[in-house]
Amino acid sequence: MDLVVAALLTIILGAVLKLVLFRSRNSLEPPCLSGWIPWVGAALQFGRAPLTFIEQATLKYGPVFTVYLLGKRYTFVTEEEGFQVFCTSKDADFEQAVQKSVQHAVSVPEEIFYKNRKNLYIMMKGKMSASNVHELSGNLCHEFQKCMADLGSEGTEELRDLVRHIMFPPVVSILFGKDMFLTAKENIREFEEHFQNYDNDFEYATQLPEYFMKKWSKSKKWLLKSFEKVVLYADKTNPPDDSYKTTYQRLLDTLQGKNFGANYGLLLLWASQANAVPIAFWTLAFILSCPSFYKSVMKELESIYGRAAKEVVSVSEDDLKNLPFIKWCILETIRLRAPGAIVKKVTNPINVQNFVIPAGDLLVMSPYWFHRNPQYFPEPNTFKPDRWKEANLEKNHFLEGFVAFGGGTHQCPGRWFAIMEIHILVVLFLCKYECSLLDPLPKESPLHLVGTQQPEGPCRIHYKLRT
Ligand code: HEM
Repeated sequence: MDLVVAALLTIILGAVLKLVLFRSRNSLEPPCLSGWIPWVGAALQFGRAPLTFIEQATLKYGPVFTVYLLGKRYTFVTEEEGFQVFCTSKDADFEQAVQKSVQHAVSVPEEIFYKNRKNLYIMMKGKMSASNVHELSGNLCHEFQKCMADLGSEGTEELRDLVRHIMFPPVVSILFGKDMFLTAKENIREFEEHFQNYDNDFEYATQLPEYFMKKWSKSKKWLLKSFEKVVLYADKTNPPDDSYKTTYQRLLDTLQGKNFGANYGLLLLWASQANAVPIAFWTLAFILSCPSFYKSVMKELESIYGRAAKEVVSVSEDDLKNLPFIKWCILETIRLRAPGAIVKKVTNPINVQNFVIPAGDLLVMSPYWFHRNPQYFPEPNTFKPDRWKEANLEKNHFLEGFVAFGGGTHQCPGRWFAIMEIHILVVLFLCKYECSLLDPLPKESPLHLVGTQQPEGPCRIHYKLRT
């Protein structure tokens, strides 16, 4: 009898203990939105409009909350304290957060990824530092103008497509080498089309099995095959002197596991286009949609190039320094169309705002929403280039609270190149063409978390060569 009572007591005590422990663990963890379908979690509601979902969850559950999606826990931190932790905690790991996505995206095995990530980052950071990127500006100008010549003297086009056609070949030829497409125009178009299929579905393809992404998978294979030829070409023409090497040749020199040169080529191509092209589109769209901004930009251009602006063929580093308003427009565009989310993996429990975020969670920060904090950016939803007057851009400092390129030790290594290429493109295009938008400024689509935002509707431009 005593034994039965003891057993019963043990069971009851165990159950109570488990309940208490479970409760206290849960009470320390952030609120969790887990939906009602096992494993799927809140994926259906989230997937409908991820950007809107984050905003509504922040309003309802506060600045730290977890969302359970397809078997994974994503913990969002939306305020300053969470962002500091995101950037500085040694228990929040960038590599572990992105490794699987890189494997899906370009088929780089786990071991090769971990062996190379840090060295490739250091190489990119050096090659594309604020002081080095200007070496690339002369070539970039030349290549942009070659592409603009194909536009003819007048036309109407979707602005997104126009920007992509002007940006894709020059940037590719700067990073990979002039003859990467073996010069034929048809090769460039085919390459660009496959890249567009690849980029369009990139966000889903990095999460889902390739089997479900037939069109994406076909273009990925085509691009990887093409890059094999580019590797051979880059190797054959690789100069001994570092200063003459393309970024891709430097990458191949740094890479351990030479068989993966094509895979890393595709990764570099994606990183260089996926965010910069939409930002160039939005910058022109913001400027052209507001007559007073357009006027200020043209006045600034005239102050440097005079009336001969339409004939500008080279844009020097000094010119860019003397065209601050256009740079402010670019930075303000990046602020308003910043990436929806950046991610790290929690390797040991992390404390944020009285919560404990358990190991294994993916820690998520949204630059898009962070940039809408009125504490940092008064009237946060308004496009106000003048707010950038306060930033010490001469010293390469952005405004406080600006996190579009990530933070801490993992900031985007291509950021100075991105700003410079968009600056040059806007200068050349607006000098050469008189432009007007045929549609109102579109809204941003709420569907994308990976990278900068895409427009939701059409935005056509009419352009005419200045005479
Ligand atoms: C406006 C344009 C761009 C934006 C907003 C942007 C933003 C970002 C962000 C948010 C990250 C991740 C940082 C993190 O997770 O903490 C990143 C990483 C990266 N970006 Fe950019 N980027 C841009 C343009 C470019 C360009 C033009 C290049 C190359 C020429 C580039 C190369 C890279 C690379 C290689 C990484 C991965 C770095 C690593 O391994 O840690 N980006 N970028």
